[in-house]
Amino acid sequence: MNDNGIGGLRRLDVNVTPDTVAAIEFDAETIAGAVRRLADEVVRDLAGEPFVLLGVLKGALFFTADLARALPTNVDATIDFIAVSSYGRADRSSGEVRLLKDTSESVEGKNVVIVEDIVDNGLTLQYLQRLVGGRNPASLRTCALLDKPYRRRVDVPVDYIGLTAPDTFIVGYGLDYQEKYRNLPYLARLHDWAFAGEGRE
Ligand code: PRP
Repeated sequence: MNDNGIGGLRRLDVNVTPDTVAAIEFDAETIAGAVRRLADEVVRDLAGEPFVLLGVLKGALFFTADLARALPTNVDATIDFIAVSSYGRADRSSGEVRLLKDTSESVEGKNVVIVEDIVDNGLTLQYLQRLVGGRNPASLRTCALLDKPYRRRVDVPVDYIGLTAPDTFIVGYGLDYQEKYRNLPYLARLHDWAFAGEGRE
């Protein structure tokens, strides 16, 4: 280990914004503030009960991690992940959601908080609520960092919402475009020319 960074690797400048980024919609500080508020709301409602944060991969990877770390240390919380993907990226209207990875632990009898990065048309969250809700959890809540309520195609309840997203395609903090940009520490809009053809899903 030396001053160049982790494991002796030379650390690149993390502050360089990719050329493809047109604007930062929510910076890291704004995201952190929303995450802290959501953690407070979850803890307030669960009032001393043990609960499971069920992160939805891949998008909610960082959000789940940060939400968990924003909880008071004496909270009885566990973390699990589920991975889903919408069938046919170009045509999500079918509403078919594919289960890529199930939970590691049973949710039966547990208080579950589904943790999503974004609720767009709502089909993914609806699928998850039906799936998890059908497994007899003690309670089921939903928490999303980002919401696009004006895009909703199904009426799905979201108990905790961090930020209302603009009506534009955004990447970063777990959200991708063709699997890229998830690692950005902020939420950003891309230049139109950054999209290779169609299929921004
Ligand atoms: C994204 C996002 C949500 C879902 C929201 O996941 O992470 O899970 O879409 O969209 P909806 O409300 O319109 O259903 P995606 O299927 O792109 O997978 P990813 O999380 O691995 O990027």
